[in-house]
Amino acid sequence: MPEISRGEVQLWTVIHHIADARHDELEKHLSPDEITLREKFTPERARKFTTTRATLRALISRYTGIEPSAVRFRHGPRGKPYLLENGRESNPRIQFNLSDSSDVVVFGFSSDREIGVDIERVRHLERWKKISERFFGAAAATELERLPGDARDREFIRRWVLEEARIKATGQGIWSRSTPEAAALSYQSFFPADEYCGAVAAPGSDWSISLPGSPW
Ligand SMILES: CC(C)(COP(=O)(O)OP(=O)(O)OC[C@H]1O[C@@H](n2cnc3c(N)ncnc32)[C@H](O)[C@@H]1OP(=O)(O)O)[C@@H](O)C(=O)NCCC(=O)NCCS
Repeated sequence: MPEISRGEVQLWTVIHHIADARHDELEKHLSPDEITLREKFTPERARKFTTTRATLRALISRYTGIEPSAVRFRHGPRGKPYLLENGRESNPRIQFNLSDSSDVVVFGFSSDREIGVDIERVRHLERWKKISERFFGAAAATELERLPGDARDREFIRRWVLEEARIKATGQGIWSRSTPEAAALSYQSFFPADEYCGAVAAPGSDWSISLPGSPW
């Protein structure tokens, strides 16, 4: 069983179009509820859902020894999933968070703290200025304005994923950005694939990212 050291955040990256070749093997990991839920999705969304949920189950299985299809989740008030073991809500053996954008999905795992992971494909957003002023502040919006187009798009998405990772670390909504829990977080950027930006947020500053790569 792989170990996660104290302060380590392990990030696994999966590329959807590559994982599609494993579809039949992966779907065996889904729970009956997930198979029912998947029927409501379009074929493309169903395929991505299978990869994301089944890979999450397979990775949790590697860390805990629980059969993938027997992994159980509970959800926080705003939908953040946590591992549920023996009906026990507190202190799960592992904490995780995941993020899906376009063709890439990243899964983060930690043994000693709650984490938030977010990724986005770099692209141009028409509303970049309004969003920057609201979420990053006037000074950051001015800095972004000075950058040439491509660099601005990349820097905007890099900052965006930092904000999202922060929100996801506390499992709360956007309003939680100024809570004491959010103030105690630190965060790190990473680049999961060409043209994608990622970020992890977690409490304290005594942690670092390790990148084992693809689960297969
Ligand atoms: C919860 C939220 C953070 C998810 O982010 P997203 O970019 O839409 O989606 P991602 O692919 O990154 O993450 C989805 C995964 O995060 C997890 N998740 C769901 N709710 C969560 C929450 N409240 N906190 C942390 N993780 C959550 C789930 O595993 C989910 O996967 P699933 O849908 O397969 O179950 C998002 O819905 C949200 O509230 N965003 C805030 C929007 C905003 O105003 N941002 C401004 C940033 S500048």
